[in-house]
Amino acid sequence: MTTTESKGNRVRVMFDELAPHYDLMNRIMTLGRDQRWRRYVVKQADLKSGARVLDLASGTGDIAFEVLRKVPDADVIAGDFSLGMMQKGRTRPNGERLRWVGCDAMKLPFADASFDAVTFGYLLRNVEDIDLTLRECFRVVKPGGRVVCLDTMPPHGVTAPFVRAYFRLALPLLGRIFAGNPDAYTYLSGSTMGFHDPETLAEMFRRNGFSEVSFRMFMFRTVAVHQARRPLATL
Ligand SMILES: C[S@@+](CC[C@H](N)C(=O)[O-])C[C@H]1O[C@@H](n2cnc3c(N)ncnc32)[C@H](O)[C@@H]1O
Repeated sequence: MTTTESKGNRVRVMFDELAPHYDLMNRIMTLGRDQRWRRYVVKQADLKSGARVLDLASGTGDIAFEVLRKVPDADVIAGDFSLGMMQKGRTRPNGERLRWVGCDAMKLPFADASFDAVTFGYLLRNVEDIDLTLRECFRVVKPGGRVVCLDTMPPHGVTAPFVRAYFRLALPLLGRIFAGNPDAYTYLSGSTMGFHDPETLAEMFRRNGFSEVSFRMFMFRTVAVHQARRPLATL
């Protein structure tokens, strides 16, 4: 088994196990702020009526459902490699209106330039190869289309010691109480601490061909939404 397979497998199994408690834990961990960030992601995707959208690492579909709420006639594909997360998402209201597709973000089963926008929440921390994932997003989005990325960021500035304590101590405890799974939330904490800062992530978008790259920070700089565009003359 290659390293890529082993990290991917571990992450996939972890999310399969987390699926029943995932939505509740998200609301608790973020003090109910998480849906606002997803609304911001969808706003930044700049969608028109009838847009074809890929929400990658869709999990239980939070961002994909928000796309449907904002653009009811959008054609929305919710892609993820955890069947457990997608099965949970399908049981949610309007779950049948999304097209759920099992896929690996590093090897997308979609044609070149086939989406008006690609969104993803909390994906890049989990993949073995961020550049490869960004190149795949670049390939499948149409020239002129947007890619919008939501993720947690390593602690920064004066609040860093408090944020670190929250991630290291409080999250595993909440994970134990509400999801019976402290290890998954220890992983979340570790993957956030070891992740790129927002400026570096923006640079990764640029070096993979994207233009108009920018980001906005939320919640004491612990969460970032990056947006980027595939330039028009790139087919
Ligand atoms: C923290 S959840 C985020 C779900 C959703 N985007 C949200 O906003 O709540 C991360 C998701 O990424 C998926 N994922 C991680 N690595 C992936 C990969 N290489 N390909 C596809 N999905 C992946 C996991 O299965 C999981 O459902």
